[in-house]
Amino acid sequence: MVDHITIRKPDDWHLHVRDGEMLKAVMPYTARHFGRAILMPNLTPPVCTTADAIAYRERVMAALPKGSAFKPLLTCYLTDDTDPNDVERGFREGVFTGVKLYPANATTYSAAGVTDYNKIKPVLARMEKLGMRFLMHGEDVDPTVDIFDREARFCEKYLGPWTKEFPGLKFILEHLSSKDGVDFVRAHAPQVGGTITPYHMEFTRTDWLGWGLKPYMYVMPVIKTEKDRQALRKAATSGEACYFLGTDSAPHPVAKKLSVNGIPGIFNAPVAMAVYAKVFEEEGALAKLEAFASLNGPKHYGLPPNTITITLEKRTWKVPEEIKVPGPDERALIHHGGETMTWQAVAS
Ligand code: NCD
Ligand code: ZN
Repeated sequence: MVDHITIRKPDDWHLHVRDGEMLKAVMPYTARHFGRAILMPNLTPPVCTTADAIAYRERVMAALPKGSAFKPLLTCYLTDDTDPNDVERGFREGVFTGVKLYPANATTYSAAGVTDYNKIKPVLARMEKLGMRFLMHGEDVDPTVDIFDREARFCEKYLGPWTKEFPGLKFILEHLSSKDGVDFVRAHAPQVGGTITPYHMEFTRTDWLGWGLKPYMYVMPVIKTEKDRQALRKAATSGEACYFLGTDSAPHPVAKKLSVNGIPGIFNAPVAMAVYAKVFEEEGALAKLEAFASLNGPKHYGLPPNTITITLEKRTWKVPEEIKVPGPDERALIHHGGETMTWQAVAS
């Protein structure tokens, strides 16, 4: 039986660390296990310009533990009015790694997102010219589309045509949640890559809704069926270069999670590597974990992989229930809080 595995330090290609006291409380958990992370720009107000991103990066650096080598990678929150010249400036100055699409009102803090895809074409054309990556919350939020079909419809209606219109642009379909999404990415690789969260590989909508409503499991895109879960597990553990790690760790104050109108997002940074290792072990694919966690993402982004390593050990540990957040946020629940995990990541 394998009782430990050493891999190059992983990167997290989709992460929310928020701002202020929440940022300070959650940042150390990611810095411990990941070399780099793509930080989502859906703050309030969002990170829309190069100037916003420079300021946010400073706040992130200040929240890192002393001596940490962690490198934040920033993204530009795309709106109907994003200026291609500012995007270019941010990319050339090493501030923006990519541009992030939120269809307006698709998810948490996306109200300022895109309402008219014709308006963003000049930005896409500029990114294609620059070799900049386009990250997408890939859901069609047309109210006539069923919530479980949003990802498939987005691929069909928008992403498919965009791959032809911008053949030199590299896309990332983030937090893949369906077999349709998985198949679309494979069929359009290497132009399109996709990230996979721990929780879309763990749960089905029956876990979420079948035995009492678990508000904690409410995420966007929503957790789907067993067929989708199986497709995601097979994709991640295949080692195929188009699939890579993105935790979508998304902390919220507990009151917002447990409200009558609950907010989507799971805070999983403290347990993400433990869950990934468990899934890969269950699929008999621990040998493919390094490709998924540490090699495929950098390759899609045109960056070198990390050179230092981390070790994951088969060792039980109890996950704390929550983290304390000073001020009005008070506390955030941790994914698998109070449960026992079988794998533990040991910092390098
Ligand atoms: C994310 C958040 O809380 O910012 N929530 C989520 O359910 N995944 C936003 C997102 O990535 O959709
Ligand atoms: Zn997210």
